[in-house]
Amino acid sequence: MPDMVGIILAAGKGTRMKSKLPKALHPICGKPISRYVIDACRESGIGDCVVVIGHGADQVRAGLGDDVRYAIQSQQLGTGDACKRAIEVLDGADGDVIVLPGDAPMIGADILKKLSGEHAASGAAATVLTAVLDDARQYGRVIRGADRNVERIVEAKDASPEELKVGEINAAVYCFNLALLRKYLGEITPANAQGEYYLTDVIGLMVRDGLTVGAVVSDDPNVVLGINDRVDLAHLAGLIRRNILEKLMVGGVTVVDPSSTYVDADVVVGADTVIHPQTYIEKGCKIGEGCVIGPSSRLVNVELGNEITVLFSNLTDSTFGDGTRVGPFANIRPGCRIGRKVKLGDFVEAKNSVLEDGVSMGHLSYIGDATIGERTNVGAGTITCNYDGYNKFKTIIGKNVFLGSSTTMVAPVEIGDGALTAAGSVITDNVPADALVIARSKQIVKEQWARLRREQKEKA
Ligand code: UD1
Ligand code: MG
Repeated sequence: MPDMVGIILAAGKGTRMKSKLPKALHPICGKPISRYVIDACRESGIGDCVVVIGHGADQVRAGLGDDVRYAIQSQQLGTGDACKRAIEVLDGADGDVIVLPGDAPMIGADILKKLSGEHAASGAAATVLTAVLDDARQYGRVIRGADRNVERIVEAKDASPEELKVGEINAAVYCFNLALLRKYLGEITPANAQGEYYLTDVIGLMVRDGLTVGAVVSDDPNVVLGINDRVDLAHLAGLIRRNILEKLMVGGVTVVDPSSTYVDADVVVGADTVIHPQTYIEKGCKIGEGCVIGPSSRLVNVELGNEITVLFSNLTDSTFGDGTRVGPFANIRPGCRIGRKVKLGDFVEAKNSVLEDGVSMGHLSYIGDATIGERTNVGAGTITCNYDGYNKFKTIIGKNVFLGSSTTMVAPVEIGDGALTAAGSVITDNVPADALVIARSKQIVKEQWARLRREQKEKA
């Protein structure tokens, strides 16, 4: 990759999105559209990127990260004007630049390397990336002369019916000699259908003055597709999603039904893990090897070790050790550290809690703000009362504890190692290690009472 500064144009509102969120930040598989473009630049070896922002600038800057430089375009006067704002930030730099639209997330490092390589080798004033589309729609058309060289680019809104028939479109990715770009940006005018300063006009001006403009036609037309409305957004999200899944499959992950599996761009999944249908693995997830995830599960920012099964469950912001089993129908909320070989069965919920290795919580429990020691058994229906309506309190349960079914623990409270709670106990005071605690009313049996009542009612 020749040494070039990247200029990414992302100041537009994205009017056609009809959204309060700036177009640059609309997420696809958990990542903002324009971040895909920055990442492609990075991957191709571009060290310095200037991102032009304007509409919702503060929000866009926060959403895209601080590993790039930003230029502000306060009025969106067109892509040519946006480029001028970036060049101001570059100050007196010379050499070549590569300009990219912030709304075409499928651009990849390979094609950027090819474009910049050809540009550097030819010494052209500009080199344009183009593609041939079956349906060129609103893209700018690349008009070539009789010698097949690029002559100019015409926007769809300004094109004649004849020009609209051209299938070769402008990807809006270009390499420029910076000094020449600077010069010709000074010559463009907004005399066009949209009243904007078009960067594309620079190409025609260069050719008019006898400068060489090269073109690279992309083999894969998809990589140049831009997002201008929500139909484009859904279409490209589908293509990107498929790419993410194919990368996982090539890496040894079984995706049983790619059409109903949703994995975010930054997710890592180990080999021999099987992902069943209707499963969502979102931002921040790291999943080990040999796991079985789904069907019908949603994982957000969780870390799973190896050989873990998750069935019909919802897991967020938590970690899980090797060999743990989750579900069906578990809800593990933020802040949990679940150890190895833990069993979390049906209708159990945990929040901000530590469950050490070998804990078994099989059925119908709520554990919040608690720690549970190794190999403790949590009986069905066990509940921590961690909230008094004003504050949250902690429950500390030791190791090898047997919590009888429907134990209710009113926090703050501690249960010592090896203790046993009788079923149905309401624990309000600390329980020493190895003790039996029975905290419920004693059983009263009235012989024949039920039969006598029945007979009375039947007589009446
Ligand atoms: C642009 C090209 C078109 C090309 C298409 C490819 C121009 C005039 N047209 O059209 O030839 O086929 O991309 O996707 O360049 N932006 C700014 N400031 C502005 C205006 C736009 O930063 O004042 C940014 C937008 O945020 C966007 C990018 O530039 O990321 C492209 O702008 P957009 O309005 O989407 O242009 P297109 O109509 O797609
Ligand atoms: Mg666009």
